[in-house]
Amino acid sequence: MPETTRPLPRHLAVIMDGNGRWAQARGLGRSEGHKAGTETAKRLVTRCRELGIAHLTLYTFSKENWGRPQDEIRTLFDLLVRFLNNELKSLMDQDIRLRVLGELEDFPFAVRQVLGHVMRKTEKCSSMTLNLALNYSGRGEILRACKRLIEQGVAAKDVTEERFSAELFTAGQPDPDLVVRTSGEVRISNYLLWQSAYAEYYFTDVPWPDFDDAQLDLALEAYASRQRRFGLTGAQAEGGEAPK
Ligand code: IPE
Ligand code: IPE
Ligand code: MG
Repeated sequence: MPETTRPLPRHLAVIMDGNGRWAQARGLGRSEGHKAGTETAKRLVTRCRELGIAHLTLYTFSKENWGRPQDEIRTLFDLLVRFLNNELKSLMDQDIRLRVLGELEDFPFAVRQVLGHVMRKTEKCSSMTLNLALNYSGRGEILRACKRLIEQGVAAKDVTEERFSAELFTAGQPDPDLVVRTSGEVRISNYLLWQSAYAEYYFTDVPWPDFDDAQLDLALEAYASRQRRFGLTGAQAEGGEAPK
């Protein structure tokens, strides 16, 4: 389908998986895989911005990832800090706003500082929102929202889906339309559990470092070919009766 007519996700969420195996298959250390994966992420941001995808979320570091060896965690944070420092100007030039999904308190000071700086510098940018899911857990996010509602003294009858969504890290953003996972694993690994209730899923065997423009195009093509029915019949959905 030509790029101009096919439906695009408003929000694309990605589980960038397979860096370690990509490196190991080449006789390299896992850090080399993460380095290559960072380049892939950089390119994806630019490509999504060019295509007009308004929200892009990258699973960058899960709460469960704290269990990895210390030196791998350090490599991941070093790469993140480097990415943020190197890309700040480019994000501003491309009018991309950076947001973080996750609790920042657990991060080393240097990481919090650069994240805060880039978020402040880009807060007025509006052509695309780039969400980094960092120290992220879908279940943790849901529990956090519950606690926030309780702390605010919200009455049970006022706890609606909208009110609940407003307490999530993604408050104010549309739910993901498409969730992509690379590297052949078919699971969601605690990612955007609430928000992806009606997302389309796309799984590919390609490891994250090899997920280039052509691979993105395949994912978008698959998305465009799906009929999103939201519980309705095919005919109803075709008639445009599906909720937005
Ligand atoms: C994804 O690649 C990066 C992070 C989870 C931070 P992995 O490091 O999980 O790569 P594999 O799954 O071990 O190959
Ligand atoms: C999910 O990948 C987390 C990120 C991509 C940051 P993992 O490699 O950590 O997930 P599992 O262990 O395969 O579920
Ligand atoms: Mg993995």
